[in-house]
Amino acid sequence: MQLVSTQIAEFQKNSSWIRRMFEAGGELKKKYGAENVYDFSLGSPDLTPPAEIVSAVAGLAAEIAKPAGMGYMPNAGYEQSRQALADWLNADQGLKLSGKDVVLTVGAAGGLNALFRAVLSPGEEVICPAPYFVEYGFYCGNYGAKLRPVKSRPLTFTLDLEGIAAAINEKTRAVIINSPNNPSGVVYSEAEIRRLGEILQAASEKFGRPIFLVSDEPYRFLTFDGCSVPAVFKFYKYAVIVSSFSKNLALAGERVGYVAVNPAMENSAELVAGVIFTNRILGFVNAPCLGQKVLAACVAQASRLSQSQFEIYAERRRLMAEVLDAAGLQYQLPAGTFYFFPKAPEGCDDVEFIKRLQEQRILAVPGTGFGYPGYFRLALCVDKRFILAAAEGFRAAMK
Ligand SMILES: Cc1ncc(COP(=O)(O)O)c(C=O)c1O
Repeated sequence: MQLVSTQIAEFQKNSSWIRRMFEAGGELKKKYGAENVYDFSLGSPDLTPPAEIVSAVAGLAAEIAKPAGMGYMPNAGYEQSRQALADWLNADQGLKLSGKDVVLTVGAAGGLNALFRAVLSPGEEVICPAPYFVEYGFYCGNYGAKLRPVKSRPLTFTLDLEGIAAAINEKTRAVIINSPNNPSGVVYSEAEIRRLGEILQAASEKFGRPIFLVSDEPYRFLTFDGCSVPAVFKFYKYAVIVSSFSKNLALAGERVGYVAVNPAMENSAELVAGVIFTNRILGFVNAPCLGQKVLAACVAQASRLSQSQFEIYAERRRLMAEVLDAAGLQYQLPAGTFYFFPKAPEGCDDVEFIKRLQEQRILAVPGTGFGYPGYFRLALCVDKRFILAAAEGFRAAMK
């Protein structure tokens, strides 16, 4: 007898490429030892949180040793944390937000769920360029809505703006983008974001209600070669930023994220209030209080990657490019993130190629798991010695 709902059973069947790789990795590590398995499957930062975070945590002991020091707080988050976050977003993206425009959430994942719960009705659609973070489909499904992927251009992963425009219909409630992108590493240009804003403005007018542009941007902190990530609020008024400190501060386990609503939209306070309410009724109640206090203490100082941490990621990127070149694999050099999304070799689909890599003790995730078959994702959240050691395996898998 099935104990979970039919929808969840269905979701589980389709959800688990990363999970499957994680389990396969566990088996391989048992058999060969962790040092001999090259695990590029998980996008979980392996670096230490910045020193400012560590000392802010140490300083919390006295603060929480007060009555209700770890008690409930307003559902939007502590006022000082909201203000510190708004100040930092203003400095980082050249915006003019106040603390009232942001809501603290349980990671970016919790933020996306709170936002979707606030704006989506059953039967509505959310458009998303593919490849995409697979959880988006489940988050839409949580509220009876559907994700409608539109494939980006092969290899470069630039947006198919005509395809997005053609996919918009009366059921479209939002378009979600993720730039820098997991898994492709692409950063959408200012011209693409501007044009997307124009398309959405025209469609919102045509259908008589806003189509939101949701910008999921937990990788904004990590770009290379002078590439910068356009600030979506400057290009479209019905834009909402969702992000977190999971990746830049290596705080994925502490679950601190946020939703920022563009104050340029009319009645923006209504949407903020909606997200505060859904944050509560989804049972999140608040973002974790320790993470919020840490943000209030040092978000401005800690949130830019230190030069030494940046260099670690840049070196891994350079080494992986060399390894892929030597193996003869085709790829677009990622402009941001710690991911690569190379093309599976001619005549071999991505799932088949992943199996070949596994035979070489290399773990990667097939593009099929990101709505983009024919490619595979490598996450560079491991020491560079694993990248170097995997070189031979990549070459062997190509034979
Ligand atoms: C594109 C994207 N969005 C959202 C998330 C969720 O981030 P968080 O851990 O902050 O919930 C991730 C995590 O990997 C991600 O890659």
